[in-house]
Parts: sequence; C-alpha cells; structure tokens
Amino acid sequence: MMQRQLGTCYYPEHWPQEQWQEDARRMVELGLTWVRLGEFSWGVIEPQPEKLQWQWLDKAIEVLGKAGLKIILGTPTATPPRWMLKRHADMLALDVEGKVRKFGSRRHYCFSHLGYREEAARITRLMAQRYGDNAHVQAWQIDNEYGCHDTTYSYSKAAEQGFRAWLKQVYGSVEALNEAWGNVFWSMQYSDFADIDLPNLLVTEANPSHQLDFRRYSSDQVVAFNRAQVDVLRQYSVAPISHNYMGRITDFNHFDVSKDLDFVTWDSYPLGFLEDRVGATPDNQRRYAQQGDPDFQAFHHDLYRGMGKQGRWWVMEQQPGPVNWAPYNPAPAPGMVKLWTWEAFAHGAEAVCYFRWRQAPFAQEQMHSGLLRPDSSEAACWQEVLRVSQELQTAAEVSHQQAPVALMFDYDAEFAWAAEPHIGGSHYFDVVFETYKSLRKLGLSIDIVAPDCETLDAYKLVLAPGMMTMAEATKQRLMDLDCATLIGPRSGAKTHSMQIPSALAPAIAGLDVKVLHCESLRPDLPIELVKGGAIKGYREHVKTSWQVLEQSVDAVPVLLNQGHHYYLAAWLDQEALVAILENICAAADVDTVPMPQGVRRRDTGHERFWFNYDQQTHCVEGIELAPGAVVRQTVP
Ligand code: GAL
Repeated sequence: MMQRQLGTCYYPEHWPQEQWQEDARRMVELGLTWVRLGEFSWGVIEPQPEKLQWQWLDKAIEVLGKAGLKIILGTPTATPPRWMLKRHADMLALDVEGKVRKFGSRRHYCFSHLGYREEAARITRLMAQRYGDNAHVQAWQIDNEYGCHDTTYSYSKAAEQGFRAWLKQVYGSVEALNEAWGNVFWSMQYSDFADIDLPNLLVTEANPSHQLDFRRYSSDQVVAFNRAQVDVLRQYSVAPISHNYMGRITDFNHFDVSKDLDFVTWDSYPLGFLEDRVGATPDNQRRYAQQGDPDFQAFHHDLYRGMGKQGRWWVMEQQPGPVNWAPYNPAPAPGMVKLWTWEAFAHGAEAVCYFRWRQAPFAQEQMHSGLLRPDSSEAACWQEVLRVSQELQTAAEVSHQQAPVALMFDYDAEFAWAAEPHIGGSHYFDVVFETYKSLRKLGLSIDIVAPDCETLDAYKLVLAPGMMTMAEATKQRLMDLDCATLIGPRSGAKTHSMQIPSALAPAIAGLDVKVLHCESLRPDLPIELVKGGAIKGYREHVKTSWQVLEQSVDAVPVLLNQGHHYYLAAWLDQEALVAILENICAAADVDTVPMPQGVRRRDTGHERFWFNYDQQTHCVEGIELAPGAVVRQTVP
C-alpha cells in the first residue's frame, strides 16, 4: 500500500547555501516527504556551454536527502540559457502572426526544432549520468508544463519542414492528401508536399482538415520531445518518470505523452483558474472567489488519474496562497488549502506538493506566495498544511475504487472543435466539463477515460459527448456495451479527416439517428425543453426510429433512446442536463443524491469524502458541512 504524502517545490539556487540545512529541517518538521528541484536551473548548471557546475546541486541533493527528504529532479529544458540562442538562432517559436517569441521569460523553444531537442536530450543525459543512481533522487520530472503560455503551436521554419514530412508519412501521396482534405474546394490542390504551408497568415480561415492535421502534428512533436528525454533517463535510472501538466491545456494529446511516463502530475491553482480559465459565470466567480470552482480541480484529478500507469498521479504544484498571474489574485478562504489537499487525496493522489517553499522576493513571481514568506516566516497556509500532515497519520493510504460512471475525454475532438467551433467561442472541453459538473451535482464519482479505454464494460454508465471525430473502433465498442451509454451531441460529426460522414453524422452502426442538419444558437436565444431547462448553444435536427424521451418546445427531438443506449442531440444548460442524467442514472442503477450548492462528494476505496466549497453551511444526508469543511467517512 502506498502512503499519501506531501511535498514542496524548492529552488536552492535562489537562496544562500547556509539556508538549505534549515530549510530541509523545517520541511521535515512540517511533515513533507518530497521536494522537487531543478526544473528551471539550466543557467546555473551550465552557465557557459559545456562548462558544467554541479557542485551546488550535488550539495543541495545531499543536504535535503540527508534530512530525510525524497527528491524529484526536474530536467531543466523549459528554460534554455541565453547562450543556447547563439548555437541555435532559429530555435525560438513563432506565434500565429509569425512573430518571434523571444528570450527573457521561459518556454522559449519550438517543439519542432531538432537541434534544440538534441540539446534537451544532452542536458538530460548529463543530469542522468550524474544523479541516475543517487539514492536521494527517487523520481524525475521532464521539462515543465508543456503547452503553458500557449507554446504547443509554433509557426517556425522547423515546424513547416516537420509538418511537410509528417504529412508525407501520413498520406503517402499528395493526391491522397488532396482527397482527404477536399482540396478541390477553392482550387486548393497541391502537387508537392513541399508546397504545403502552415495554416496561418491566410486571407480567411484555413481548411479545417489542414488545421486539424497541424494540431495533430504539433501534438506529436510534444510526444517526441518528451520521449527523447524519457529514453535517455531510462538508460541511467530506474526511478519513475513524470511530467507536470497544467490545468486546461488541451492543445496536445496528454494521453499520448503519458504512455511514455510512469506516473503523471498536474499543477492545481484553484483561484487562478477561476479567474483565468474555468469559464465560470460572473455570479460563480464572486461566489467562489476565495474557494475556486467546485469541479475544476476534481475534473483534472480524474483526468490525470485516468492517464497514470495503474492510476498513479500527483498534484505537483498546489496553490498555497495568492498567485501572481490571474487578473485578480485573492487569498484562499480559511481552510481551502487544506480542502484542496484532501480533495486531491480523495481522488487518488499519491502526493500533493505545494508551490513553492518560500516566496521569491525577485523576478516575475515575487507576488506569488509560498509556504514561507520571503523572510522565512510562516505564511498563512502553514498551519493548514501542518494540520493535513497530522491528519494523514490516521488516513495514510492511497486508495482507489472504480467509479460507476465513465466520461470519455478525447484530445482529437478538442483539436477538431478548435478547427471548426461552429458556435462562436465554444470548446469541446466545455461540453465535457459541463457534463462532468452535472454528474457531480448528482453526487457521483466519475472516472475520466481515454477513447481507447479497454475496461468500459466495468461501468454502469459511459458518456461520450462532443467526440467530433470518434473513431470507428470507439463507436463499435460503445454500441457493444451492456451498460448504459450516452452519446452526443456532436459526436461522430466528422470523419477522421474532418469531412461530414457519407451516411451523415453520427454514422454509428446500431444507432438509428441521422443528423439532417444542425444549428448553433445565440446565447441570448435559448430554446426551452418540454420538461424544463433549455438548449443553450447547439442542436441537431435528426431523423430517427428511436424513442424520443425529451424534446424542445418547438417539437424537435432532444433525447433519444433505444434499450440501454441514449443519444443527446443538443448542448443543454445545467438544469436540463442534470434532469436528463438523473433519469438515465436511475434506469442504469446508478445511485444519485442531489448536492447542495458548492457541496461535492467523492468515494474512493473504503472512504467517502464530502467537501463544501460554498460560503454557507449545508446539511446533506445528516452531515453538517461548514464553509470549507472536509468530512471523511470510512465505509466498511
Ligand atoms: C506554474 C509553473 C510554476 C509557477 C507557477 C506559478 O504554472 O509550473 O513554475 O510559475 O505556475 O503559479
């Protein structure tokens, strides 16, 4: 059995060496087990090309390790030093406008640049040779937050060349590519792969097939960049390898990257996210300003659990107090740092590490809090973290339990949706996230699964909303299931190469629904449903022999059913979605309990957890939950 553990992110290079010992002692005193080092330290390790300075890192690892801490060592490839540009002047990414993204912050590299990829493998090799068998180094992190700061896509020369070679490999002949993309339209035929440009700086929109392939290509470069380092590390170290993903970064396929990792981690900043990327209503932004969205963290916990080998995952960076990067950066309400930490454990995390140990008084993140203030005094969250570490003594073990419900998440659908949103400003992520929220309003625990998940038949209900380019194998697998399935809206809307299926969408054998046409709706013109709630952005007009369980007030079918299969032909508001899901769950023998505002429940192993994100006290199933409360029950 694995123990639940705490940790922190530490930058010894930011502090005088005399301070390290005391820092290590205090980390242990606080109950921390893990300390992450190194992920931005290239400039200190190799200040001049090939002139390596390891002594400081040797010392830091020794001091921390001897104090009893386990080290997760980061490869420093998110921050190549300035001299790297003298070696590889063209390694910087170009943005969609073709402008160079210069040195002076971080993540200043293009994933397609093979010279830089080799440099990344080189520094990784040097690090692995030095620390691969160091007993204190018990895990690795590769790079830092792929895709953060909008860095997946680059419109550089290196990307252009790589994209052409990738297309040639995928299509074999340019005629096949012309056919797949439908290039007869607007005379867009190519006669040579060398003529194909990247899909930016065009007069009007690029062909969605072209855009989709560029996204797939770019995603593959992240996989290749990561793999180059994994391959090196495995030669020198048996310690498990991870990467820290960032919330709501969906422009590369995390399932693909994770296949090369031993465990996955993500960085959780609930208050930054609420302001920056949740898409919450202004009311909810006010209501949860100091708590964070009640579902956003949980969604990512479930997503990354579904990606880790044997469900192994961590929170690598946990917000400890105000951050510096959102439009507004409030302090967490009392109790929330503790709640966020326990919530991660409730979703199966092995470790939660706080970012960062001590607030830096200099550079970009000086307004970002840590466990300590810049003067080393304890920051507001210290006592909460101490409390968690004490509580962990009686609830030590990581536990997993299969949820009754599986929700598919498909990065390819995100790419396809981005290429053709159809509803202004809409995203596939939101369709899935809103479905997730509605399931959580019903008190459910959820597993988020990849489209190729092989254990679907272990669930009572499997949902696949918005999967625009659903693969034939996935269609077949869903229809073969004996449990309840809910497919749609917009699932199967396009073929793999982004065309309308010849039999019309969703083109799923055994699902007698044909989308005759679809429409997107203004947000201020919702269409009500007969039994309550409304269609909020998109609906399909279908021909079907299936039973209509719900329709709009203008008599357009919305929810269709045959046996245990359901098809949803519209994007619904939460009221409608919750009502529909409640009925489907009842038919599928899935127990639901409506959750009060901001209250969420999660079952794992032999535990049931309750969390209150709201500012009010709520009572549910006889349990009183004050604001910020975490209640853990043991279930026999
Ligand atoms: C993360 C990043 C950290 C730090 C932190 C600040 O996205 O990995 O290095 O910048 O944000 O909140």
